[in-house]
Amino acid sequence: MANSSSAYRRILLRIGIAGVVVFAGLQFVRPELKNPEVTNELQAPPEVKDILRSACYDCHSNETKLAWFDQVVPAYWLVVRDVKTARQHLNFSELGAQPAAKQRAMLYEAINQVQLGAMPLAAYRRMHPEAHVSESELAVLRHYLETSTPQPEVSAAEVSAAEKQFSDWVAAGPASAKPPAAPNGIEFPADYRNWTPISSTDRFDNQSLRVILGNDTALKAIAENHINPWPDGSILAKVAWTQQKDGQGMVRTGAFQHVEFMIRDSRKYASTKGWGWARWRGTGLKPYGDRPSFSDECVGCHEPVQGNDYVYTAPIRGQR
Ligand code: HEC
Ligand code: HEC
Repeated sequence: MANSSSAYRRILLRIGIAGVVVFAGLQFVRPELKNPEVTNELQAPPEVKDILRSACYDCHSNETKLAWFDQVVPAYWLVVRDVKTARQHLNFSELGAQPAAKQRAMLYEAINQVQLGAMPLAAYRRMHPEAHVSESELAVLRHYLETSTPQPEVSAAEVSAAEKQFSDWVAAGPASAKPPAAPNGIEFPADYRNWTPISSTDRFDNQSLRVILGNDTALKAIAENHINPWPDGSILAKVAWTQQKDGQGMVRTGAFQHVEFMIRDSRKYASTKGWGWARWRGTGLKPYGDRPSFSDECVGCHEPVQGNDYVYTAPIRGQR
């Protein structure tokens, strides 16, 4: 018996050595990660950039600094992939080339992602606790956007027209005339006005007011806490209005912007992450997109919350 157990140990040892050799060999299989020159950095005050630099620049800039443990294959492969994808979505080293309004809009999306708990990526946060954005840092970011975004003053007549539009919407119930289907064939779910709000948010730069509604299946799923994944038949709607400021500085609901939907059917919509995506714009409810693949844009932007079944809104739960 002694013989066979030492043979067994020898085999294990050989496998172990082979593993180390392969691991060491793989270290040479390294896709290149360059830091191109920073030509047009985001224009923002230093206190704003400092926060972004420590939390986001490793992936969203041309100033990526890798920790030693990020340089070890296979972790390195994942890091390189993340950095390349992240730069395509948002690159703070190049954003400065855009007009000021576009920079602010991108910064709004960026801060929103932090606020929703989607960024920095959770896996990165675990390895880099210093990248966590604290409440007080978030406040600095929000304050900068709130104070740097010009707020158009509007007349009393415009405000009352907008209020009428809003109260008409609330009172109206299902629209009678059905708008055309979305380019991917999804029909307008006209009864969405009767659904229940599960969350509502102001854009913190006061540009729009948004309400998220859920149908009965979605509400039941929330009540039973079965929302990752959401059950087939769940539909979530997001309705957005612009906001405007009246003469007294009060923020009011302005024009209806759009209503958009995520419709759960894991088989029918398997190619778009199990959700059917559709959006109708303006009071005329014009379908958004000019070909079925328009929903790639929706999926792409909801990708950071794939761990949450592609849904940003956390209905009854607290902070993620
Ligand atoms: C570890 C790398 C990493 C870090 C750090 C990181 N991100 Fe990201 N970010 C990504 C990746 C990858 C994507 C692309 C979406 C995806 O595939 O999940 C992304 C997407 C985004 C998007 C675009 C969403 C869209 O599709 O329009 C925004 C905005 C964003 N990140 C903001 C931030 C902010 C702000 C920070 C810092 C607080 C940050 N990210 C930190 C990797 C990172
Ligand atoms: C620029 C990024 C972006 C794009 C593009 C985008 N979304 Fe979203 N979506 C968000 C964010 C962020 C939220 C969270 C609520 C908020 O902040 O407005 C959201 C919320 C939603 C919600 C409410 C459920 C949830 O996830 O919280 C629906 C429904 C929705 N989006 C549908 C769509 C559809 C349909 C499209 C494509 C026509 C689309 N979205 C494109 C970023 C995006």
